[in-house]
Amino acid sequence: MNRTALHLLTFALTALFSPPASALDIIPRPASVETAPNGPASRPVRVRIAEESPPALREVAALIAEELGAISGKAAPVRLGDTSGAVLRLTLETAASTSPEGYTLRTDRDGAHLESPTPAGLYRGWQTLRAALEQHCDLGSFTVRDAPRFRWRGLHLDESRHFFGKAFVKRTLDLMARHKLNTFHWHLTDGPGWRLEIPEYPRLTGVGAWRRDKTDRPWDWRATELSFEGGRPGDYGGFYTESDIREILAYAKARFITVVPEIEMPGHAYAALVAYPEFACENNAVHTEGLRGKDVFCAGNPATFAFAETVLRRVCELFADAPYIHIGGDEVSPLAWNDCPKCRERLRSIGGKDAHDLQADFTRRIAGLLRDRGRRAMGWDEIAAGPPIPSDAAVMVWRDAAFARRALERGHDVVLTPISHLYFDLPERRGPGEPRGADGITPLEKVYGYEPVEPGLPEPLANNILGVQACLWTEHITTPALADHRLLPRLCALSEIAWSPAASRDTGDFLRRLGPWSETLRQAGYRCKPRAEDASAPKSATPKPKAASR
Ligand code: ACM
Ligand code: ZN
Repeated sequence: MNRTALHLLTFALTALFSPPASALDIIPRPASVETAPNGPASRPVRVRIAEESPPALREVAALIAEELGAISGKAAPVRLGDTSGAVLRLTLETAASTSPEGYTLRTDRDGAHLESPTPAGLYRGWQTLRAALEQHCDLGSFTVRDAPRFRWRGLHLDESRHFFGKAFVKRTLDLMARHKLNTFHWHLTDGPGWRLEIPEYPRLTGVGAWRRDKTDRPWDWRATELSFEGGRPGDYGGFYTESDIREILAYAKARFITVVPEIEMPGHAYAALVAYPEFACENNAVHTEGLRGKDVFCAGNPATFAFAETVLRRVCELFADAPYIHIGGDEVSPLAWNDCPKCRERLRSIGGKDAHDLQADFTRRIAGLLRDRGRRAMGWDEIAAGPPIPSDAAVMVWRDAAFARRALERGHDVVLTPISHLYFDLPERRGPGEPRGADGITPLEKVYGYEPVEPGLPEPLANNILGVQACLWTEHITTPALADHRLLPRLCALSEIAWSPAASRDTGDFLRRLGPWSETLRQAGYRCKPRAEDASAPKSATPKPKAASR
């Protein structure tokens, strides 16, 4: 071989994966990676599926091909049947994993072969290869056998406090997909804004989606001034039409992300009550008195339940694939209920003694409406802290582990999103000049160190932990850049808690992998700062740690 040919061959081989020294340095870390002494693997340039592939496989192959093409900047077509050259073969194979999202990925001279029992598993496996390709991982032939630790790997986004819109949501869904997160908890309604079009109640968005723009001032939810002529100059807001929602749901579904909408009740209802004061308690002139801890729906008025039924019917129709509908249930103030003849009458008729009984009654009724439509209610941990409610309601625990334990002991499925570790609206670092020991700071290492299953938790209870989730509340997050800044890189840590085996958790190794991964995310357009740049966060008020109520 002459010198030029040798040079060309060397050049060609560096474009391929080179033999294995290290494991696949990606995030989240796969469960098992074995390298094989088979020499370099080829970088796939097209996707191959069998001629007779079902539509679901064709669909995921098309998306994978699109993402593969985006890496090289050249279209990567999907081919049916045998084709020569370096390919990514996709096969539905029951034996590939015992987990529906599990997969096996092999690379060799012919490219890569991905097998999974489901299209979802193929897509998760592709994210492993995608990360390796984007990061130019120095790999040879290898076999990855991988499956998630938890079923629920979630991210929550509050669009009531600030509204980000379709493009931001899609981009966040992409970010989730890259990290193998599978549940998007969409906080669509709350006191300062209602973001979901409900045709029967046009004022929910006509009034409830707009407020006087005060983004230049420190957040003060008590100063929310909803706008009665929505969308005037000087108003802040926005909402999703039914067609927007369908578009986002299709986008999420293609990436095997379940969307769980949250429609807050009975509390955090200010926007809805200003729009429709008839669902507030008697003696609660919520629209004129403002937010005085009384932003609850009346729990004794049959009209409230007729309203809730219509809203939830629409939500169930629109979110047709959502197994859970989140109904909030947190931070419900008894003030308005205690003062209301209808609520007192309801309490008497159920033989209850206080607002806890009334809230449990409310939750039971709403959960029943959802059950009739084949859905399960989910609520914040307050719903399982008072009198018992049916155990088919799932509980999202935001306070401490004692609330998780109580919900598990009562037979509820539980998702853990503790404020202590997984509220990403709290800053990651102290701001310049902020005193040491300032609370409300959640450093990356603290997030990474979070273990969802308490030591000693009996196995039958641990089995009812569906998984983990981070929350992005947005009182203090006014822009997409700031949202990125709060999410990243802590979302990377969350993904490893949620996906990777507990025994593989290693902070030093995670931080080592995070360097190149952050660079990959930056290349993909996310604002994931190198750690040395912590002080250059976009300007915002530092949120106060959450007290009793937001
Ligand atoms: C919550 O943070 N109130 C769920
Ligand atoms: Zn009432």
